[in-house]
Amino acid sequence: MSNRFDVITIFPEYFAPLELSLIGKAKKAGLIEVGIHDLRAQTSDIHGSVDDTPYGGGAGMVMSPEPWGKAIDEVALQNPNLTHELIVLTPAGEKLTQALAQELVESEHLIFACGRYEGIDIRVTDFYQSAPNFKVREISIGDYVLGGGEVATLVIMEAIIRLIPGVIGNPESLTEESHTLTNSDGTLVEYPNYTKPQEWRGLKVPEVLLSGNHAEIAKWRRTQALLRTQNLKN
Ligand code: ADE
Repeated sequence: MSNRFDVITIFPEYFAPLELSLIGKAKKAGLIEVGIHDLRAQTSDIHGSVDDTPYGGGAGMVMSPEPWGKAIDEVALQNPNLTHELIVLTPAGEKLTQALAQELVESEHLIFACGRYEGIDIRVTDFYQSAPNFKVREISIGDYVLGGGEVATLVIMEAIIRLIPGVIGNPESLTEESHTLTNSDGTLVEYPNYTKPQEWRGLKVPEVLLSGNHAEIAKWRRTQALLRTQNLKN
């Protein structure tokens, strides 16, 4: 089960939201440990350069392998007894799904490499793929290009951390909700939810939900989930 997360970035401030909500509470409760590392701390020149022009020409800049190698080695050395799973964020990676989040929550140490510009020199991926105690995965959060891997890392961390036992107060919500593989409905999206008041701006809560008839409620919810799944655009 993952409980150690390290993030390498040139924008450590991006990760302030990790102090909030579920993840903030999980940290305070000692359920997870999170380290945020500034890539520029691994540079030696006065400008803290982390990128350079691409070999072969072309637009944009490529992140240099040297600071990345140093930063990843340092994080691995700080956690010598763990198997490290290096997550390289890139739109060219395998797509994040609930199934992938379920898989990642099982790894004991996740290191997120947040690339910017045109990405990280591919030799970083190549090197750690064959390094002892390392596994490497390139992951995308969707078919669009972000300015960097920071937001993608926050998305992936949130998807993983809420699966760790104890992070969510009511674990039933994990099995009931949309897309969870433990849901016997497979990949159905979730049925619509209502709470008080019974009528809001003229819109009423469906009668069946007020009936107390659990079999009828389950039937209605399943139908709604099927309808919503059918209506999904993708
Ligand atoms: N970096 C830039 N775009 C990205 C995406 N869609 N997913 C993950 N990392 C990215």
